[in-house]
Amino acid sequence: MTGPPLVIETRRLTKKYGPHTAVDDVDLHVAEGDRYGFLGPNGSGKTTLVRMLLGLVFATRGEIEVLGHPVPRQVGRVLPDIGALVEGPAAYPHLSGRANLRIQDASGPGGRHGGRQGRRERVDDALERVGLAGIDKRPVRTYSLGMRQRLGLAGALLHQPRLLVLDEPTNGLDPHGIREVRDLLIELNDAGTTVFLSSHLLSEVEALCTDVGLVDRGRLVLEEPLDAVRHDTGRVVVHTPDVERAVALLGSAVVARSADRLVVGADAARGGPSALARQLVAHDVRLNALTAERRSLEDVVVEMTGPGTDRT
Ligand SMILES: Nc1ncnc2c1ncn2[C@@H]1O[C@H](COP(=O)(O)OP(=O)(O)OP(=O)(O)O)[C@@H](O)[C@H]1O
Ligand SMILES: [Mg+2]
Repeated sequence: MTGPPLVIETRRLTKKYGPHTAVDDVDLHVAEGDRYGFLGPNGSGKTTLVRMLLGLVFATRGEIEVLGHPVPRQVGRVLPDIGALVEGPAAYPHLSGRANLRIQDASGPGGRHGGRQGRRERVDDALERVGLAGIDKRPVRTYSLGMRQRLGLAGALLHQPRLLVLDEPTNGLDPHGIREVRDLLIELNDAGTTVFLSSHLLSEVEALCTDVGLVDRGRLVLEEPLDAVRHDTGRVVVHTPDVERAVALLGSAVVARSADRLVVGADAARGGPSALARQLVAHDVRLNALTAERRSLEDVVVEMTGPGTDRT
C-alpha cells in the first residue's frame, strides 16, 4: 500500500462488557493528514473505541497501533504527541479554566512542547484558539456546557499534537461554536495535524471530514473517503424557471419535479450534466443551476445502520 503512513490502525479490535459487545472486530485505518470522521448512532461504540485508542479502556481482543506504537503497551510514548478530548471532559470545578489548563500542562510532557518554560504562552494560546480568552477566569463550575467543551478542546491543543483524538468535540456547542471548532480543526489539519473525531452529526462530518468510518452496533460497516461515499447517483438536478418547457422536452426522463427544480434520470442524463445543459439551453430552457446529484451521507447511513442501540 502506498500513500501517507497510518497514524491509527486497529486489527480485529473488540471490547466486551459482560455479554454485550460494544466494539466488534474493528479494523480502523486513519492515515496521516486525514480528517477522519467516526460516525455512528448512540451506543454504537464510538466512545469505547476512542478510550481504547488512548489506553483508557483495555480491549478484550485485537491490536491497536497509534503513531506507530502498540497501545496500550507503549501508550506513554504516544500520549505526548496526542491531543485528546473524551466525552464529558473533566475539570476542577472550583478553579478557573486557566488554572485547570496550567495544571494539565504541568502534568503533561516536558521537553520541546512542555515544561515550565512557555507554559503561560501555551495556555494563553490554547484559550485564544478556542475563544475562551478573557472569559476563562471564572470557576469552571459556572461554565456553560459549550464553555466546558471548549476548555476540553483547549486542553487537547496544549502541546502541538501530531494527532487529535476528539470524542464528539462539538457536543453542546451552538451553531457559531460548531463553525468555529470546524474552522479551527481545518486550520490545524492544514498545518499538519491529523484529526480523528467521533460524532453522530452527519452534517458535521460532511462539512469537515475527508474520510468517514461508520460504526453500527460495534461493527465498522463502512470506511471510505467522503468523496467516494458521496458518489454521483448518475441523475442530474436542474433548477430552472422553465420547468414546464423542460418537462415537455424531456418527457419521462424527468423522475421528480417541483416548482423550479427537476431531477433527470440516469439514463437520460448519461451524457453528463454538460450535455444535458447544452440540450436544455438549445431549447430555450433557462438554467439557474444544473448539477450531478450526489448521494448524501444521510442516505448512506440510513441504508447501512439500524436505529441506535440505546433506543428501546
Ligand atoms: N463501562 C461500561 N460498562 C458496561 N457497558 C458499557 C460501558 N461503557 C459503554 N458500555 C456500553 O457499550 C455500548 C457502546 O457505548 P459507547 O459509549 O461506546 O457508545 P457511543 O457510540 O459513544 O454512544 P453515544 O453516541 O451515545 O456517545 C453501549 O451499549 C454502552 O451501554
Ligand atoms: Mg459516546
